[in-house]
Amino acid sequence: MPEYQRFDAVACEFPRPRVPLLPALHWADIGFGGGTVAPALIDGTAVRHFARGRYAMHAACQAGGIGPGTVLLAPSYHCRTMIDPALALGGTVLFYAVDSDLTPRVDSIRALLAPRDHGIKALVLPHYFGFEQPPALLAAVSAVCRHHGIMLIEDCSHAWQVAAKRAQTGQANADHVLMASPYKFFGCEDGGVLWANPALFPITPPAKPGLLREIKAFKSAWSRNRAAHATATAAEPRDPALRGHDILERHDGPSAQYEPAMENKNSLALSRWVMRRTRIAPLVERRRRHYTQWLEAVAGARGGQALMPDLPDDCAPYMFPITIAEPDPVFYQLKHAGMPIFRWDDMAVSSCTVARNYRLHLLHLPCHQGLSAQQMAWMTALVSKALA
Ligand SMILES: Cc1ncc(COP(=O)(O)O)c(C=O)c1O
Repeated sequence: MPEYQRFDAVACEFPRPRVPLLPALHWADIGFGGGTVAPALIDGTAVRHFARGRYAMHAACQAGGIGPGTVLLAPSYHCRTMIDPALALGGTVLFYAVDSDLTPRVDSIRALLAPRDHGIKALVLPHYFGFEQPPALLAAVSAVCRHHGIMLIEDCSHAWQVAAKRAQTGQANADHVLMASPYKFFGCEDGGVLWANPALFPITPPAKPGLLREIKAFKSAWSRNRAAHATATAAEPRDPALRGHDILERHDGPSAQYEPAMENKNSLALSRWVMRRTRIAPLVERRRRHYTQWLEAVAGARGGQALMPDLPDDCAPYMFPITIAEPDPVFYQLKHAGMPIFRWDDMAVSSCTVARNYRLHLLHLPCHQGLSAQQMAWMTALVSKALA
C-alpha cells in the first residue's frame, strides 16, 4: 500500500490567498470573430473533453490497460491527482526518480522495467510548469516505452502550448497519448482534454453536464472575473507562531480530490466556448512578462532560487517555480501574508532525494495572464523581501 507524507496546515489558520492562483475569464482575451486555437485541437475526432485533467488521465490509464494487478510509472515529484486515476482503476503506482531540473531519470525508468513480471502498463511524463521536456529525453523515454510495449502519457496539465505543438504525435500512435488541463491556461471554469488515437476511445463519449451546471459555472465565471482585480493587500496578522506538521499515512485508493462520479463527464460548454474564442498570443505574452518579472525580482536573493531560470522563446509558463532554503519561516511568512502558493506537500514517499527535498522547498507562484500590475508588484515585493 503506498505511503504518503502530507503536510497538515489546519493548525496554521492561513488566510485565503489575496490574489487568484488561476486565471479567470477576461473579456479582453476573447476574440468574437473566433479565437486562435487550432480547431482540430478542440473539436477534432481524436480529442475527448472531460471535467478535469485527472479524468482525462483516467481515460488514458484505462486505454493503457491500467487495472487491478497492473502498475503505472509516475515521477517521484508529483501531486496526488496525477496518480489518483490509476489508483481509482485498482492499479498501483511505482515512482521513477527525477533530476533537480525535473527531467526524468531514464536509468531509473529502465531499472523499474527490468523485472520480467513488472506489471507496468503505462508511464506518465509531465511537462512541468509549462516547460517542454528536452527533446532528447522525450525521445529516450518514448523509445523505452515502445520497447517494453507500455503506453506513454504526456502530461501537459501545466503545458497547453506544449500539447498544442505535440498533440498530433499522440493522435498518430496507439501507444502514445497526451492530456491537458485547460482551466490552468484559459480563463475557464473546468476542463480536461485527452488527445489520442480515436481507436482508443470508448464508443460512448463523455456525458454532457446539465444546464444547471452551465448556469452555475457562468455565475462563478462572472464573480471570479469581478474579483480578479481586487487590490492585493497583506492579510490580517495571525499568530505567526502557528505551525503545521507532517503526517505519514497509507491508503490504497485515490485522494479526496478525485471524484469517481466525475469520470466520463464532458467539460462545460462554457469552457469549450472560452477555449475556442481565446486569443492566445496576448495571453502568452502576459504570462512571459510576469515570469520575467519574477526572475528579476528574485535574482540575487539569498533565500531562494528560480528553478527554471531560462525561459525558452516558445514557452508559455504556467507557474514560477522557486526553491527556498528555509521553508520555516519563509513559507509561513508568505502564507500568513496571503500569498497565493501551490506546494506539492502531499506526496507518495519515494527514494528520490529531489522529490523528498522539493516537497517542502519548491513553491509554485502564479504568473498567469489575469494578474494586474499591482498584484504582480505586491507579490514580487513580498517574496523578494522574504528571501532577501
Ligand atoms: C502535473 C499535473 N498533472 C495532472 C494534474 C491533474 O490535473 P487536473 O487538476 O486538471 O485534474 C495536475 C493537477 O494539478 C498536475 O499538476
